[in-house]
Parts: sequence; C-alpha cells; structure tokens
Amino acid sequence: MLTTRFTETFGVRHPIAQGGMQWVGTADLVAPVANAGALGFLTALTQPTPEALTAEIARCRELTDQPFGVNLTILPAITPPPYDEYRHAIAEAGITIVETAGSSPEPHMPFFREHGIKVVHKCTSVRHAVKAQAVGVTAVSIDGFECAGHPGEDDVPGLVLIPAAAEQLTIPMIASGGFADARGLVAALVLGADGVNMGTRFMCTQEAPVHEAIKQRIVDASERETELVFRTLHNTARVAQNAVSREVVQILSDGGGFEDIRELVAGSRGRTVYTSGDPDAGIWTVGQVQGIIHDIPTVAELVERIVTEAEQLIRERLAGLVS
Ligand SMILES: Cc1cc2nc3c(=O)[nH]c(=O)nc-3n(C[C@H](O)[C@H](O)[C@H](O)COP(=O)(O)O)c2cc1C
Repeated sequence: MLTTRFTETFGVRHPIAQGGMQWVGTADLVAPVANAGALGFLTALTQPTPEALTAEIARCRELTDQPFGVNLTILPAITPPPYDEYRHAIAEAGITIVETAGSSPEPHMPFFREHGIKVVHKCTSVRHAVKAQAVGVTAVSIDGFECAGHPGEDDVPGLVLIPAAAEQLTIPMIASGGFADARGLVAALVLGADGVNMGTRFMCTQEAPVHEAIKQRIVDASERETELVFRTLHNTARVAQNAVSREVVQILSDGGGFEDIRELVAGSRGRTVYTSGDPDAGIWTVGQVQGIIHDIPTVAELVERIVTEAEQLIRERLAGLVS
C-alpha cells in the first residue's frame, strides 16, 4: 500500500484520483473507480439539472459504498448554469468531497466550509494554487500543460509545475496531466505530490461511458495528436486533433472570433463523438498522455496495476540504484 497525505485526508486506499470529465464522469465510471480504492468525481454539469445530479449521486451510491466526490467546473459561459443550485444539490446529497475547477473557489468556500465539504481545487499555475490554499481549500490538484482540457495560458509542463507548486504549498497536492501508469505515479511522488489525478487514462477503460471506437482511437493515437484550441480567446483547451479542431484553429488564427466557431465547438457535437464513435463529429477532450496508453483495461485492473507496479518501481528499481 502507498500511504500519503492524500489517502489519509480523503479516506481512500490509493493515491489516485479521477478528475471531473464532461460527458464521461458519470456513476458508470465513478463507482468502479471508488470500488477500486481511488477517488472518483462525478461531473456535476454533465447532468442537465441539479435534480438530475441528485439522482446520479443516488445511482452512484447504489453501485459503491466507498467515498467519491463531485466535480463542479466553473467556466465562462454564454448562459451560465445555475451553479448555486448545483452546489446545494451536492451538499443536500451529503457529498463530502468536491473538486472545483475553472475559476477561483473563493466565492464558494464559505458554503463548502459550512457544510463540512472538503475541497480539492484543480488549477494550472502556482499562483492560483497558493491563492486556493489561502482561501482554505483542503488540497490542490495541479494540472500541467500536458493535460486534457484546460491547461491555462502559462504553458508550464508538469515536470516544472509540480515541484514549483510543492515548494509553495503546505496542504496535500496531487499532480495532474500526463499520468497513466506506475512510472508517472512514482515520478509525481518524487516531485513532491501526494498522488496523481488522471482523466484520459480513466476515459480509456472498459467502464467509461464512451464509444469503443473512441477508446480505440486513444489507444492508436500518438502524443502528438492533440490540438490546442481557443488560444486567441485566452481560454485554451487541449482536445483531440481532428478535422474540426484543425478548422477551429485555422479560423481563429485567421482573425476569427467566437461567433465564427460557435457551431463547430458546440458541446452537443462533442457529446456525439462519445455516443456515435465518430472521432470527427466535433471537438472532444483528450490529453497528450494518449501516446502512452496502449490498452482498454477495467478500472480495477488499471488501478491495481498502477499501485502494484509503483511499489515494485520504488522497492526494486529505485532502491536498487542506491549503492
Ligand atoms: C473527456 C474529458 C473531459 C474533461 N472535462 C472536464 C471537466 O468538465 N471539468 C474539469 O475540471 N476537468 C475536465 N477534464 C480534465 C480532467 O479532469 C483532468 O484534469 C485531466 O484529464 C488531466 O489530464 P490527463 O488527461 O492527461 O490525465 C476533462 C478531461 C477529459 C479527458
């Protein structure tokens, strides 16, 4: 067993988290993650209403008696979702761990504190991590430039970001972006993290509610086949490289604005990718780590393999290097 401040703080067996994933972070995935001893997060906004989130939390509880949390992603939106109502749904369902991402968690902290909810804030810079610590989050998840989704605008990869954040933080920190296996977990621990957060790797498991063709696409793709979209809008996102992502980059670099790409980047088109298995149906999120993902295991096989091999790496490879 690998025991860290992360496992002790959140009451899970392994120092591994499954971060929020729009359209993917449902009970189908989160329950097996919890049963495997890792910390999974249901993605609040994947549920169309706060009431639907309440029902999804209940469904997850039927599938596991282990701890799990809810991700609340707060991003700029044309029509913002009713964040306060989602927050209330989370608290009323008795959830005790929330992953916040996007904007600062500060406005939400008094509510979470009052309801005894531990907050893991996911951010992409040392300064935002330090700010999150100052406003009272329980832990930080630091997302390097490699990550799927929103890597921020600083372009600092994990190899620098993780130790730089570790130097400034006193609360538990997990490293995110680019992790898929035991090598990554051991490296993260050595760099000063208390565990890892993974998105793409969990998306490519048997239980993830994603079409088999998309999982196979992840297995087949190399680390070079992602695209950074929305750079000129200062809302960078790392997504799969495909016909649509290339077109979006082209339109924006030719001076286009959001209105010119609105239809191409519609969330509903992205969701179609996962349901239809057509990788060119829209924009969909994936990380550079796909280059080191070579199979589609069950969640239990994946988590067990990572922790077993991590222990071996520490006991045999690393200890064996010391003379
Ligand atoms: C399909 C997909 C959807 C995602 N959606 C969200 C989201 O809604 N909110 C969020 O905070 N992070 C989201 N992420 C980011 C993950 O939680 C995690 O931070 C990221 O995947 C880590 O990088 P990795 O993919 O290299 O492991 C998403 C990632 C993927 C792969």
